[in-house]
Amino acid sequence: MNIKIIGTGSAVPKLRVTNDDLSKMMDTSDEWIKSRTGIRARHLAVEESTTTLAVDAARAALNMAGVTAGELDIIISATVTQDRLLPNLSCELQAALGADRAFAFDINAACSGFLYALNLVRMYLSSGRYKTALILGAETLSKIMDWNDRSTCVLFGDGAGAAVIRAFEEDEKSGVLAALQGSDGGKGMVLNCRNRPLNNPYVDHGNEVPYVHMNGQEVYKFAVRTVPKAVAQVVEEAGMSMDEIDLFLLHQANYRIIEAAAKRLGQPMEKFPTNLQECGNISAASVPILLDEVNRRGMIKKGDKIVLAGFGAGLTWGAALLIW
Ligand code: ACO
Repeated sequence: MNIKIIGTGSAVPKLRVTNDDLSKMMDTSDEWIKSRTGIRARHLAVEESTTTLAVDAARAALNMAGVTAGELDIIISATVTQDRLLPNLSCELQAALGADRAFAFDINAACSGFLYALNLVRMYLSSGRYKTALILGAETLSKIMDWNDRSTCVLFGDGAGAAVIRAFEEDEKSGVLAALQGSDGGKGMVLNCRNRPLNNPYVDHGNEVPYVHMNGQEVYKFAVRTVPKAVAQVVEEAGMSMDEIDLFLLHQANYRIIEAAAKRLGQPMEKFPTNLQECGNISAASVPILLDEVNRRGMIKKGDKIVLAGFGAGLTWGAALLIW
């Protein structure tokens, strides 16, 4: 038994905010942001929420797959910015879609979340017990940014990406041929965000509001070291050579990280499509939104070999090699 992606979908908020727009609110510039990250704009939620973006992305993916919500066995959303602590985003999504047969839960593996979800459904579906799953990365990161901290808030955006996954009897070499997950909790504090503080009659934390804190240079070093290694590992596990890979879809944190990974892997940048210029970094949603964009643009043909890779807070990383 193997698994295949049979539909993709994505959604971003209506409001597009350029670097110039941000430079009117804080001491930054288009030149600084563009030259260090490649980002020119991002979409920020005003009327949307993580749930509404997830619902739009999920509907588009189901539509493309020709699958009804009632056929879904599993819904897994990767997110760090679900609208409620309870119930989880996946259950809200289940209700909105009417996916009555599914069981639904969220995972938090930050920017690697979509890869973690993909590998998780691979395990579930390979058991033979389930047939169809919906996985998502969905975020409204703008709500956990400190808009007075120019070193983090300019990097991130909001959006959601989804994929419908189907189990199939293995025939020729196709589907997901290799996947891996990794984490290094010891370095977790280089990119962190506290949850609500303790709150009971015995403690008093005042009105502390938790935001994302990042040591950008440490994250950069981690990404540049880890991504090429993870990519090389899935390519080797699938018994392929790097040159055989048609597309590398990496987490969209920073153009320089993607360039460095391409260089280390000895591959041309043409094989690394990007959307961070228009979306910024949308954590778990970055990879599935990019996948949907290249899919809808007709950039993927049947039989193409694609590597997906994510990396982020935890620290976590994940990669998968699939034949479309
Ligand atoms: N506009 C203008 N100046 C700024 C801004 C800004 N938005 N942000 C920081 N600066 C200033 C700093 O204050 C500092 O000024 P100083 O020298 O006077 O003190 C100067 O720019 C350099 O700051 P650094 O943090 O050293 O900048 P660096 O060159 O390291 O670039 C960046 C920062 C882009 C975050 C880089 O470290 C990076 O790409 N890191 C990778 C991390 C990443 O992409 N994270 C995304 C999320 S994590 C993930 O998705 C895995």
